Amino acid sequence: MGRRFADPRDTAARQYGAEKVPVPDVDPSELVRFSPDLPEQLDPDRRRELEARADELHPWLQGPFLLGGDLVVGGAWRIDQRWGLLAEQLPEDLSGRSALDVGSNAGYDAFMFNLRGAGPIVACEPFEYHEQALFLQEVYGTAIDFQRIGWRELEPDRHGTFDIVHCNGLLYHDPHPLMLLQKLRAMLADGGTLLFGSMMLADPSLSEHMRFVPGSYFDDPTWWWVPGRLAMRWMLEAAGFEVEAEFGETHGPAGQFRVINGYFRASGAEQSPLITG
Ligand SMILES: C[S@@+](CC[C@H](N)C(=O)[O-])C[C@H]1O[C@@H](n2cnc3c(N)ncnc32)[C@H](O)[C@@H]1O
Repeated sequence: MGRRFADPRDTAARQYGAEKVPVPDVDPSELVRFSPDLPEQLDPDRRRELEARADELHPWLQGPFLLGGDLVVGGAWRIDQRWGLLAEQLPEDLSGRSALDVGSNAGYDAFMFNLRGAGPIVACEPFEYHEQALFLQEVYGTAIDFQRIGWRELEPDRHGTFDIVHCNGLLYHDPHPLMLLQKLRAMLADGGTLLFGSMMLADPSLSEHMRFVPGSYFDDPTWWWVPGRLAMRWMLEAAGFEVEAEFGETHGPAGQFRVINGYFRASGAEQSPLITG
């Protein structure tokens, strides 16, 4: 199989040594309720049904998702903890703002935008994680438009442009990172906000560099280019963004070299005239 088309589900299975990624030890009463209609108690038959359906959808990486009662799925990646940082970058009330999530996995970020009142919301995910999002959509009853497409298929003429564009964890998985950024710029509405996160080189002395990954990183063959922090900022600027803030730095997975994950908040500006195509 060519690297570019490697299914991240296989990677998750390799990294966790099992198809089934364990749910972290969380207190269900402290989790976000993505629907006001989630039952406090689940009828035993309904609980078994939801559990069985969620089981068929392993591996769950994003989470934790409360499905009602004390039933929780997912959470290998604690997206609830990430939102502790993301939340401060946006107004509490997103009413009247449209949102696009690119590389949306099981939809955690899209469900958060929905909870904060954004709409319409489009979420794009080309792999089987899309099925997890559809399952959750059914449980939560939201109107998010989950589309099983990759970023290359996003078109402003077809999908519109968005007041908020969120994209995290995708750039280093793509052999053409600048093209991805150009697409994100094309999808951003005038006056809109980009929230962009990526793995980056942790070593500050390599901040201006971009490292090519010839094989795998952390057993994951879908890594291609890992930018330093400054290189990432320059690429965003070249693609037509003005960076307003850097935030949310966390440690990345321990592979062949040290990486961090970090976010940028940016607005739209002019793209470099030297970038064509
Ligand atoms: C590291 S995960 C990050 C998921 C999510 N954005 C988050 O922050 O938790 C990268 C996601 O991008 C998806 N992806 C891979 N190739 C893609 C493409 N060409 N277009 C859009 N999404 C893609 C993967 O399936 C995966 O769900």
